[in-house]
Amino acid sequence: MKQKAKQVLVIHGPNLNLLGRRETDIYGTKSLQAINKSISVLASELGIHVRAIQLNSEGEIVDVIQKGDYDALVINPAAYTHTSIAIRDAIAAIGKPAIEVHLSNISRREEFRKHSFIAGVAVGQISGFGSESYLLALRAAASILTQ
Ligand code: DQA
Repeated sequence: MKQKAKQVLVIHGPNLNLLGRRETDIYGTKSLQAINKSISVLASELGIHVRAIQLNSEGEIVDVIQKGDYDALVINPAAYTHTSIAIRDAIAAIGKPAIEVHLSNISRREEFRKHSFIAGVAVGQISGFGSESYLLALRAAASILTQ
């Protein structure tokens, strides 16, 4: 019997709707739409199903994580990385594998960006490879889901 394709939910956090225009020296010139396109091309190659959403508010991010209608989560929590115990708790509560993504290398930036509340509940973190970080995270998710 043919198995149902694994479902990966990609969450882009606050201000990532501005990618391509926002601090391009740090985050690059690719728009979120272009990044999502590359994600969906890779998803087809990997044989997984991806749904990508962008949300600016913390509560809405918690709501979609709580729904749990996915097999793995790829999340760039953006600024909430450094502040949100609520997002951390939602990931821990649902217990699906989560991969934390950042375009920039948060360990090389301001002190306040060096701490992630999410890292402790993620399988791992991919940070610093620009838009490629998402593709590396998707490969990691696919690998976890086929193990
Ligand atoms: C970011 C890094 C965060 O510190 C920042 O607040 C962002 C984007 C990144 O992808 O590099 O909005 O998550």
